[in-house]
Amino acid sequence: MCTVRIYSLVNTMGNVFTFANQKGGVGKTTTATNLGACLAEIGHSVLLVDFDSQGNLSSSVGADREGPGIYQVLSGEKRISDVVQETSQAGLSVVTGGSDLTGANVELVNESKREFFLREAVSSARGDYDYIFVDSPPSLGLLTLNALVAADNCIIPLQTEYFALEGLTQLLQNIKRVQTGFNRDLELFGILFTMYDSRTRLANDVVQEVIGYFGKRVFRTIIPRNIRLSEAPSHGIPVNQYDPTCVGTRSYQKLAEEVVQRVTATTTR
Ligand SMILES: Nc1ncnc2c1ncn2[C@@H]1O[C@H](COP(=O)(O)OP(=O)(O)OP(=O)(O)O)[C@@H](O)[C@H]1O
Ligand SMILES: [Mg+2]
Repeated sequence: MCTVRIYSLVNTMGNVFTFANQKGGVGKTTTATNLGACLAEIGHSVLLVDFDSQGNLSSSVGADREGPGIYQVLSGEKRISDVVQETSQAGLSVVTGGSDLTGANVELVNESKREFFLREAVSSARGDYDYIFVDSPPSLGLLTLNALVAADNCIIPLQTEYFALEGLTQLLQNIKRVQTGFNRDLELFGILFTMYDSRTRLANDVVQEVIGYFGKRVFRTIIPRNIRLSEAPSHGIPVNQYDPTCVGTRSYQKLAEEVVQRVTATTTR
């Protein structure tokens, strides 16, 4: 695996976090939504940016997907502050994404600064929120590249299964490429295990292997498989509102505390 610069303790942290993994269905959107909601629940202001043409993040918080969203900001039609929507969770706002981003992927290809469009789009919102979370699509294409160039920090959700590590090398190479070519500030903030099933030996083996390689970059909090996490999106509310006491809610609340601790450890040194 290639060497990736991980977050340095003396770095003053920026607040844009991208959730990336080109592997589909690993929990990027579930984590952006519910970690965001749990941070909002303890008093932080969080902006979710749906940067996936599937629009799952927007649906997960019940946003109106008909109106303008991130695409209109990329195209220069709107400012980001004009397209922010509030959600049912106080402190949690969202900028929608959706099918028009498929077009953006193609349109950006011929632009000279094509890697920097999202960075430019979110820059004016940086001072307005404690956290800005960008959910990226399951590919290493131009949208994910934009999402990494826009970010100060990257969180990689990993499913605890055999194929989870497949593609990780390629993702890390991509992060390295962004660090050297486009965004020196990008840090690998953490690796998060999702959909964990403690009963399987394989899940434990995957966890041990990744911890062996990444050490403290792996979040102590592990998100277990929990049916409530998969049900909540169809109700358009985060899991902490759907079932405040389920194990999925408690896990993302724990993760929110861990994220705050890491941020505090970084910014106070
Ligand atoms: N811990 C969990 N327990 C049970 N189901 C989960 C869990 N995390 C995510 N899911 C479900 O697994 C599916 C994939 O999760 P999610 O959409 O968050 O992944 P993703 O990485 O964003 O996918 P994509 O790559 O397609 O954008 C969804 O149906 C989601 O509800
Ligand atoms: Mg997703």
